[in-house]
Formats: sequence, structure tokens, C-alpha cells
Amino acid sequence: MTTANPRANENASGKAAGAFDVARIREDFPILKEKVHGKPLVYLDNAATSQKPRVVLDALEHYYTTENANVHRGVHYLSQQATQDYEAARGKIRQLLNASDDREIILVRGTTEGINLVAQSYGRQNIGEGDEIIISAMEHHSYIVHWQILCQERGAHLRVIPMNDDGELLMDEYEKLLGPRTKLVSIVHLSNSLGTINPVEQIIEMAHGRGVPVLIDGAQSTPHMTIDVHKMDCDFFVFSGHKLYGPTGIGALYGKADLLESMPPYQSGGDMIKSVTFEKTIYNSLPYKFEAGTPNIGGAIGLGAAIDYINGIGMDRMAAYEHELLEYGTERLSTISGLRLIGTAREKADVLSFVLRDIHPHDIGTILDSEGIAIRTGHHCTQPVMDRFSIPATARASLAFYNTREDIDALVKGIDKVIEVFS
Ligand code: ALA
Repeated sequence: MTTANPRANENASGKAAGAFDVARIREDFPILKEKVHGKPLVYLDNAATSQKPRVVLDALEHYYTTENANVHRGVHYLSQQATQDYEAARGKIRQLLNASDDREIILVRGTTEGINLVAQSYGRQNIGEGDEIIISAMEHHSYIVHWQILCQERGAHLRVIPMNDDGELLMDEYEKLLGPRTKLVSIVHLSNSLGTINPVEQIIEMAHGRGVPVLIDGAQSTPHMTIDVHKMDCDFFVFSGHKLYGPTGIGALYGKADLLESMPPYQSGGDMIKSVTFEKTIYNSLPYKFEAGTPNIGGAIGLGAAIDYINGIGMDRMAAYEHELLEYGTERLSTISGLRLIGTAREKADVLSFVLRDIHPHDIGTILDSEGIAIRTGHHCTQPVMDRFSIPATARASLAFYNTREDIDALVKGIDKVIEVFS
């Protein structure tokens, strides 16, 4: 099988040995050389979307300049080539997640579409009046709203696991919520607004003890830790490529094959059928049953290149480096008078969410932007989290493995400037 781009792993494998050379890694990301408002870019909005290494940009260009064609539909050379590379990308995603079969990897637009697929297909098929779905208090809106819609439609109920002041789930409360009417547990792995890493293996084991399947939102965790769906034993897992250093508009849903087999299609269109007559349609086999219409071929190939790149560095090394950076950032921010970190869980990754005196986070973000520093401000699509902490919004710096201590120092200097402006 050919790879999308013969150069795809060149830079990354060159870095595999020795210490974590962040200066060398930064060379792989062209955008990190940009200036914003005349200042060097300090990109700390990785939880919203990550930057792309050159190999991903090259893979996209290679695909569109040498083999652009539709997949699964042509006997001609380009179509065969595109199909091979598209399917190779699926294989890379399977390996990334440690799933056992390509049939269990459904290519979707991203986490949101993956969750909607489960809600519309599995949810509609299995959740009825009086049934219960358990989510947590730190879910992203995209993990709340579709269950609300389903509950309204079906007369089912949403149950919410509360959290403590550090942003950790109360597992005793979860135990109490699990009951005879629980039909699904749907939990975020790594909170985008708090950085909490939830104990998903324990959550899954407890649900499975009662025969309840579990869907894990891996949008934030996949870029920051090794994922093993086999070990985790989740029933469904979703993530987005654009947070994993790949292109936007591509992601994947993992589902256990027997569950996916039993579920009806989510969307209809070309490629999801085996045969169609006016009387009857026979659906395609997995994974194509859930991939109606022309997919994001270039996006999948670009994501495959991102996965090669990550493998070349090693996710464990990336995570260890990021953890050190998070500790450094936590220490530095904690010394700023009037700054309160929101999200202080013992198990945490990547996110530094904070409020500063009574300064509105949008003002913090605007002043930091004038210094070339990109963070996110607002409720981060988690309004219930803001309500839990009685705040309207936070300022959030989120890290990636190409960030440095100098980036954190620039953030602290920028916050000093904010304080100066408001004093
Ligand atoms: N969910 C993404 C974030 O946390 C967009 O910023």
C-alpha cells in the first residue's frame, strides 16, 4: 500500500531519538514563525484547534496535485490510488486507537458528527420513554444538546454526575445514578474548559457491571495521551482530526463491531448501500454503512500524515513534555495576585483556565492578542461548568507539545500588562 506522501515521516522520525527537542519540533510548524500585530505569535489555543506540521500540509498538496479522485467508485488509476490512501488513513486511525478492525472505524467530520451518529442511530433505536442517559457536569455543549433532543423526543431523562470544586467527578454520585433505567453513559475523557482527566476506565467498568454501554468524547484527550479503546473497553469513542494536528472536517467514530452492526444507518446516500431498487435497499457493510456521500478524502489522508508524524515523535514523550509545561504554567500563574485557576483536578492535562480579579475574560483575551498571544475566552461551549463555578467565563490557555516555557513566560508578562491596564 502506498503512503499519501513519501516524505510524510521524514522529519518526525529524525526527532525520535534523544531529548525532546522542542526548538527542532517548532521548525515543522510553519505558522509558528508568523507575527501577529508585529509580535511573534504565541499560540496557546490548542484546545480549540491545533497547528499543522509541514508533513500534513505536504500530504494535502500531494493528494490534490497528484491523485485527486473519488474513492470506492472508479476503476481508473487515480480513483484506485485515492481509495488506497483513504483506506490506509483508516488503518492508521485504527492503530492510533488500538481498535482491532478497520470496520470499527467510521470516518466522520469530527467529534460532533460522531456523537450525533451515535445519538441518532443507537440512541433512537435503544432509548425509550422513562429511560435514562448519564452524562457529566463538565460535558461540552455538543455532548449535552443532542441527548436533550433525544430525551425530549423519546420521553427519556438526562442524569448528570456532579463535580467538586477542583473539577473532579463525584464517583459516589455516579454510582447512585446508575440504575435499572440507565441506557447509556456518555462522558468526556478530558474536559476542554477544566483540563480534568476523567477516570474513564472505572466509569466504563461500573456501567458495564450493569450492562450499560459507554460513549467517550475523546476530542481533547486524543491529542494529549495514548488512547487504547481495547484496554479502556469503551463501546464508542469519538475524536476530531483538527485537534490532533490534522485538517479540519475529518475525525472518527470508533464503535464495537457488534454494536455498529446492529445499528441503522445515520445518513443515506451513495456508498452506504449494496443495492437499491424502488422496493428495497440493502445497506453496505461496515464501515461504509455509516459513510454516505463523498467523504473528506484529502482530510483523511492529511489526518493519516498527522498520525505518522505523532508516531515519529511518540505520544508518551509528547504527553510527558506537555505535563512538565502544565506544571510550570500552573506554578507561574499561581503566583499572580488575584488570579484564580478554574480546574485544579489531580489528574489534569493541557488546560490553564483562569479568572483574574473582576476583569472580563474578553478584555484579557483582547489585551493578550495585542501582544501576539492567542488564547480562548468565554464559556468554551460548557456553560454548565461556568454556572457550577459561578462565573460567566474564563480565559483559557491550552498547550501543545510545540509550546515552550518562553510561551508561558510571555503569557505571564501579558497578564501583567492586563493588570497594569486595569489598575
Ligand atoms: N471545543 C473547542 C474548544 O474547547 C472548540 O475550544
